[in-house]
Order: sequence, then structure tokens, then C-alpha cells
Amino acid sequence: MNVIKSFREYVDILKAKNELTEVTKEVDWKYEMSAVTRRVYDLHGPSPLFSNIKDCTPGFRVLGAPMGLSQDPAHPFKKVALSLGLPEDMSGPEIVTAWSKLADMEPVAPRIVHTGPCKENIIFGQQIDLTKLPIPLIHEGDGGRYINTYGIMIARTPDGSWTNWAITRAMLDGPQTIAGVVIPTQDFGKIYSQWKERGEKMPFALCLGVDPAITMAAGYPLPTGLNECELLGAWYGEPIDLVKCETTDLLVPASTEIVIEGFASVDDSCLLQEGPMGEYGGYVWSGRHKQVPRFDVTAMTYRSNPIMPLCVAGVPTEENHTNWGLNIAAAIQYEIQKKAFPVTGCFIPMECAAHWVVVSVDRNRSTKDDTKLAVDIGKAVFVSRGGSYIPKVIVMDDDIDPSDIKQLVWALATRHHPDNRTAMADQYMFPLVAYLSSKEKDSSVSTRVIYNCLTPFHSWPEELRPVEASFRGYSKELQEYVTDNWKEYGFE
Ligand SMILES: Cc1cc2nc3c(=O)[nH]c(=O)nc-3n(C[C@H](O)[C@H](O)[C@H](O)COP(=O)(O)O)c2cc1C
Repeated sequence: MNVIKSFREYVDILKAKNELTEVTKEVDWKYEMSAVTRRVYDLHGPSPLFSNIKDCTPGFRVLGAPMGLSQDPAHPFKKVALSLGLPEDMSGPEIVTAWSKLADMEPVAPRIVHTGPCKENIIFGQQIDLTKLPIPLIHEGDGGRYINTYGIMIARTPDGSWTNWAITRAMLDGPQTIAGVVIPTQDFGKIYSQWKERGEKMPFALCLGVDPAITMAAGYPLPTGLNECELLGAWYGEPIDLVKCETTDLLVPASTEIVIEGFASVDDSCLLQEGPMGEYGGYVWSGRHKQVPRFDVTAMTYRSNPIMPLCVAGVPTEENHTNWGLNIAAAIQYEIQKKAFPVTGCFIPMECAAHWVVVSVDRNRSTKDDTKLAVDIGKAVFVSRGGSYIPKVIVMDDDIDPSDIKQLVWALATRHHPDNRTAMADQYMFPLVAYLSSKEKDSSVSTRVIYNCLTPFHSWPEELRPVEASFRGYSKELQEYVTDNWKEYGFE
């Protein structure tokens, strides 16, 4: 496997593959850098590498849209595939299938090294001024500048038995303080609650700019207790190099661009106001903010001329949809395929902003009762870890490619009978789901839905089965003949 071993190497590869634009013109961290990045997402453009950011420490750079869609229309997920060391031409569903095997791999322990690129510069306490970093004010309506949008937060249980890597947003508060979001149902929140129970501050390390596969693993809702670092070692086929922090015992990837380390307060009198921030559903919920723990920074180590990643969350397609969406689909596929369902794949179409999952079912299945099958699959998705984030499940025959939005909309419109919809009220609901009322967001309770789009055709006699009235409805031979002779018909 040809995996990329640092964020710096990823940047070089994007450049070599024409997937990166060097932006040397001065940009303002206040909205402008994010507006450029948003336009890149919309145009499927090359990721912008900003090197001249107004009023920031010279030399510090930002890579916007690090895992947006590729500008190659035939291979939109090229950056994801490259990140995971997979063939560049893999489709989204193929990447999900390959990546869904991660949790079953035999863990490979990391290699602890004494130093690494992230130690090129080391500063402590009052020497640190986070406000001088190129930290963006992202959306009009955001409650502050976001220091973390696509880096990983590292935390470890007090007994040292489990270390978690996760992408979790964090807002700048002051020169040495950060407002860190801690969602109790996430693994990061579970570890934080163990420290809080002991009344001890939680050591943390925020790593900005790591191997792109590390960022993928950090966005993966793996079964609780599994260690991202060791599974990724298995994926790489060799241990990941980690180095010890300066002021805590945590270990961080040695090639990280910027490591910000310190302790998260567990004292309720040290809470900070956080948010709002534009979210993956595509909205900034003006006026909605939370009280979150204060993260005190004790040391910062960084590579010379470091590069910070920037995800501008919002309307698809950004990293919440490429990284998180593919990861959730892989996590669901992992659990569903362990059950005896005739399921051939799971996919979260980019356009749905991680609000749907499409479960593809073998069109030639032998099961008779499709209604029961769809409901059983939907329920199994909802109780799975990945499915906990998703409010709507679409169960569909696997002749439809769920990553092809034209096919998907056609099939959803023409194969779903409203009577075949199963709504389940009073379920746990991930509070960031876009359309929830304030009350539902606060209680994390709402309705989930299963859309049964399965067709009964597999059980009909061959001669009565409907023929798809499209080009692909013709025989393979005729399709090939027509395609091969396209120019001879007079078409370009
Ligand atoms: C760009 C991006 C931003 C994210 N922001 C957050 C966040 O702010 N809070 C959060 O709990 N999860 C966030 N996630 C999702 C988590 O990283 C993901 O659910 C991960 O699986 C959590 O780690 P865990 O499985 O160890 O709990 C984000 C994911 C991505 C790709």
C-alpha cells in the first residue's frame, strides 16, 4: 500500500497532481480565506495553499479544502483514495467497501521515536500567542475564530488503556486558551467524563496537519475502545511514528505540522461560550451557543513554515461529507454485513449532507418479505454506531449506484411508495441534524425514518419483469456497438 506519510507529503502530491493552487496574494483570515475555500468546494477546484495571511506570523500557511472533491469529474474521490493509499480511480462506494475492513485488521503498535519534524520549533506558556496563528473567522454569523476544523484531538483514559483520535472542532479563546467542544456521546466526551469524575484536568494534544489517512481514521466512528493509531498501523503495514509531548505524556504523530498541547479544565466554573459555527448540514444557527470546557495551552511545537488544514463546513461538498460521510458509511457497512442481510454496500451521497444512508440490497435476493427486510435493515442501521448519526435510511436494490445522484433521485421517486415508509418516533437523534427543532436538539430525541425502495421484480416471472427504459436497458452488446460507432453516427 502506497500511503502518504505526512501532511507535507500530501501537499506535495496534490501539487504534483494538479490538485493544488498556491495562493500568494494576501488574504484576510476574517472571512476571505474561507470564502475562497468555499468557492473551491463549489467549483471542485484545486485545494488552495494560502501562504500570505494578513496579520499572522510569517511562514505559517493554510491548506483549504484538503479533501474536497477532485477536479477530475470521472474520479471525484481522488483525494480520499490518495489519502488512503488506494487506487486513484476508485469510486466512492468502492472506497467505502475497502475502508469498512479497517476495524477487523490486526492492530500494529506504534513506534515511539525520540524526536521528529514536529519538534523543529518548541515554545512554552507565555511564549505562545495563538491569536497570531492564521486562524480563520469562517462564516458570517460564527461566534469566533476556529483553530480546529480538520485537525485531530488526542485524549487518553486516566488508566492509559485507551487513546482516542478524533476530529472535533475547537474555537480560539485567547493567546493560550481554546474553547473545546466535548459531545458526551462521542469517544472524546466519554474519555473527558472519566477525567472529570476523578476531578483531574484532562491532558490533550491538538494536532493540526497530520497524514491524510490519520485524519480519515480520526473521523471514523469505530467501535468504542478500538485504537485508531494501531488500526492505521495495520492499514499502513508498518507502525506509525509517535513522539511524546513536551508537557504531557500523550504521544502525537511525529510528522505533525503543529502540535498544541495542554490540559482541559474539568471545573464547571471555567466554562467558555462556544459557537455558533456553520455546520455540515449547511447552516449557521445564529444565536445558538454552548458552554464548553476551557482548554489551557502549555506548549506548542511545530515544523518550520507549518501548514494548517482548513475545512469550511457547510453546504456539500466539504470534508464533513467526504471524510465523515464515507467513514459513517464504512462503519455502517462493517456492522450490517456482519448480520445475515443480503446487503452489498452502504453509501452516503454527498448531496444529502450526511442526513441519509443508502443501503444497497442484492437485486437477486432469495428473501420473500421485502417489507420486513427493509425495516429490519433500517433498525439494524439505527442501532449501529455509524447509524447513530443518520436520521433517514433508504433501502434500495443494488442496480442503482447510490453515488450517482441522477440514478438515486430517479429510483427514490419511482420506487418508493409512501405506504412503505416506516417512521419511528422518540429515538435517539444526533443533535446536529439540520432540521431539528431547538427542543429536539437539546434533548437529542426525534423521529427516524426508513424508506423502503425495494422492488418486487426479483420474485416475478422473467417475462413479466419491467425493462429499464434507458440506454443501459439495452443489451450489453448493443450498448457497446453504439458507443464504439458514436463518431460514425456523426457525433463528436
Ligand atoms: C470535518 C469534520 C468535523 C467534525 N467535527 C466534529 C465536532 O466538532 N464534534 C464531534 O464530536 N465530531 C466531529 N466530527 C465527527 C467525528 O470526528 C467522528 O464522529 C469521529 O468518529 C469521532 O471519534 P470517535 O469515533 O472516536 O468518537 C467531525 C468530522 C469531520 C470530518
